[in-house]
Amino acid sequence: MIKLKINGRDVQVDAEPDTPLLWAIRDEVGLTGTKFGCGIGMCGACTVHVGGQATRSCITTLASVDGSEITTIEGLNPANNHPLQAAWQALRVPQCGYCQSGQIMQAAALLNDIPNPSDDDIDAVMTGNLCRCMTYPRIRQAVRQAAA
Ligand code: FES
Repeated sequence: MIKLKINGRDVQVDAEPDTPLLWAIRDEVGLTGTKFGCGIGMCGACTVHVGGQATRSCITTLASVDGSEITTIEGLNPANNHPLQAAWQALRVPQCGYCQSGQIMQAAALLNDIPNPSDDDIDAVMTGNLCRCMTYPRIRQAVRQAAA
């Protein structure tokens, strides 16, 4: 049995230790805001926070996060009104939307580390989160707005 704290709630997951955290979050806990994209750590759609650090949940085993605090997009802000979420809505960042929860979780980790990031900081951290709709300019703008 793997013990996690997800969005402040204690959760026990009865799964193989090498099960990806992503599947526990989606299938065992029922939080489907975190998405499966590539499954090999290359796209960022599955990004959550583990102990406050942006983490690709598709390549993170349950065993490696036993006892950890996990935050998903559903837990980022109790009212779904984190400054990033507000900026994302104001600037209508998403197109298809599939990658956007991962984008926001990556951006939230960035703002935790660097409250007022430069464009270079934003690009350096966000570059690994892929968007097939090419919303990158609006993502950068929204991160800037949320940081202001
Ligand atoms: Fe995890 Fe692509 S689904 S990085």
